[in-house]
Amino acid sequence: MRINGATVLLTGATGGIGRVLARRLADGGASLMVTGRREDTLREVVQETGARSMTADLADRDDVLALADAVGEVDILVANAALPASGDLLEYTTEQIDRALAVNLTAPILLARLLAPRMAEAGRGHLTFVGSMSGKAATPYSSLYTASKFGLRGFAHSLRQDLAAAGVGVSLVQPGFVSEAGMFADTGAEVPRGMRTVSPDQVADAVIHAITADRGEINIAPAKLRWRCAVAGQFPDFASRAQRGVEPPESVRRIVAAQRASR
Ligand SMILES: NC(=O)c1ccc[n+]([C@@H]2O[C@H](COP(=O)([O-])OP(=O)(O)OC[C@H]3O[C@@H](n4cnc5c(N)ncnc54)[C@H](OP(=O)(O)O)[C@@H]3O)[C@@H](O)[C@H]2O)c1
Repeated sequence: MRINGATVLLTGATGGIGRVLARRLADGGASLMVTGRREDTLREVVQETGARSMTADLADRDDVLALADAVGEVDILVANAALPASGDLLEYTTEQIDRALAVNLTAPILLARLLAPRMAEAGRGHLTFVGSMSGKAATPYSSLYTASKFGLRGFAHSLRQDLAAAGVGVSLVQPGFVSEAGMFADTGAEVPRGMRTVSPDQVADAVIHAITADRGEINIAPAKLRWRCAVAGQFPDFASRAQRGVEPPESVRRIVAAQRASR
């Protein structure tokens, strides 16, 4: 699917990865609609890219419906918004659980449901979901985030099979730890020992490649993390035994503490 001349809806455009994605999509000739909750940051994105914008709380179903309505005919969806939803599940209120799943999983599903029919009718279009390597392998202190990203992965792959005959592509882009900007970089924490990061530009490259080459899944992470996640995803008991009794590293505590305010 060509980006030049396509109408693109980008969620999470006010975030670390979203801002880079917005610039790249606009530079690629997209007619862009950007969304997020923070009006001031959204205004900056509009100034940088010339995009149309609408504030929406993706935890609120009415806002999701209004967004899909306002954007009109969309050729490409990039569902990038998410909450970090890190930490111990036992500390979460039911409202916080609802919000994490609504933003990370229900909103992308609803937007796909609302936008795909016109794409299928036109015989062209693309749905892109930004997941995470947490959608491939479970790690401690991230059960909610992991649930949402495992769910998004299964959804994207199944929907890809359903929509292929209609000419609508579906892609999943799963970054590892991202440096410079975004929900991990904002914590100021070090990456856990032995891990390396990717940049927001590399994630944006992967999203653009997923759309233009119609790729089902791109894992954008250093080889070591991709390999570890592949093994842990295949052998979850082995992975969980390897973690048992191991104190969470300081970096994980810092990440969880810094992200607590955004539950
Ligand atoms: N950064 C990483 O290391 C990393 C690694 C793997 C995967 N990812 C994935 O990459 C994507 C982008 O993450 P990021 O690092 O750019 O995160 P970020 O900087 O925290 O940005 C998150 C974005 O989601 C939006 N958002 C959150 N709650 C929302 C709500 N209730 N309604 C509407 N928008 C909402 C935020 O907008 P407002 O604040 O304006 O509402 C913001 O634009 C996410 O799907 C994330 O899971 C990130």
